[in-house]
Amino acid sequence: MKIGPVQLESPLVVSPMAGMTDTAFRRLVKRQGGCGLVVSEMVSSEGLVRGIDRTLEYAEHTEEERPVSIQIFGGDPAKMAEAARVVEQMGANIVDVNMGCPVPKIAKHNAGCSLMREPAQAAGIIAAMSTAVKIPVTVKMRKGWDEDELNAGELAKRVEDAGAKAITIHGRTAKQSYSGVADWDFISAIAKTVSIPVFGSGDCIEPADIVTRMKSGVSGVYVGRGVLRNPWILAQALDLMEGRPARTISDEERGRFLLDYMHLLLTETVPDSGKTLSRERWVINKIRALCSWYTKGFDGGAQFRIGVNSAQSIAELRDRIERFFLTAQRPDGRAAS
Ligand SMILES: Cc1cc2nc3c(=O)[nH]c(=O)nc-3n(C[C@H](O)[C@H](O)[C@H](O)COP(=O)(O)O)c2cc1C
Repeated sequence: MKIGPVQLESPLVVSPMAGMTDTAFRRLVKRQGGCGLVVSEMVSSEGLVRGIDRTLEYAEHTEEERPVSIQIFGGDPAKMAEAARVVEQMGANIVDVNMGCPVPKIAKHNAGCSLMREPAQAAGIIAAMSTAVKIPVTVKMRKGWDEDELNAGELAKRVEDAGAKAITIHGRTAKQSYSGVADWDFISAIAKTVSIPVFGSGDCIEPADIVTRMKSGVSGVYVGRGVLRNPWILAQALDLMEGRPARTISDEERGRFLLDYMHLLLTETVPDSGKTLSRERWVINKIRALCSWYTKGFDGGAQFRIGVNSAQSIAELRDRIERFFLTAQRPDGRAAS
């Protein structure tokens, strides 16, 4: 499938996740296969336009991640257009606009999901960006603001007319945040009303969930939390979609992924907290954040997370990961496979 001229080898996408889908994580997930597109954490248009180092770092990416989409947020058409130019110059394949973030810090500045309440402003942003750059402009939105304002259908048409080349819909309202369940019937209905690709997002936790959702009339599926729990989920879903059994992942591979992530963070990325944290501290925080998802439902996972959250150095963290995943010394006494 294609987004504008950008060819995706698979319709399965790593969904944007603030604090999580950094360049190191995106690279490692891409290496596991099955992934057609990776999307960055949301990046401030204001920071990009002002050339703030820390913001520019969020938008950095590597060849290995291509095609890569950089997601930006903001509410001002001229600034969003300028930010899109910055992202294009940095080499992104796609620039995505966040119209789904419900966090008040973002939404109160007429950005994120509050743009869904201002469809004319939202369309103006897409029109300005589409004129400013050659790369495809895409939009990620929710069902609407709340149950009384379910206007993703109207917004989808308006942004399509304004030049958007694809849309992603997270099947919840801003008010719901992450509660309840994602409404895939709603997403499927909208997919029928526009001629650009529509991707669905929400609650694909197992590879089989992705296969089911691919049959709902969408062009592709964005997977967020499922990838944080299982970076192989896209490869496994593609196995199933192509008629193979889903690949099995050993505890050792799972442990190696964490160690590789730690290594990339330590050696090849810039800590985003600038001067406020040492690199070691920053990496420890990043590993803790991933581990809170990564070992959910795992035998002995809760105890492992306590160990990770109390580790005070990289050496200690590495030791806990190795003991849990790479040797037979599980806290629950179960042997690692
Ligand atoms: C920790 C976290 C951070 C997120 N950050 C973003 C973001 O920066 N931009 C965005 O459009 N969506 C963001 N989302 C929403 C996801 O991209 C996705 O649409 C949502 O989690 C539903 O999909 P899932 O059930 O597969 O996780 C975030 C979700 C999580 C859990």
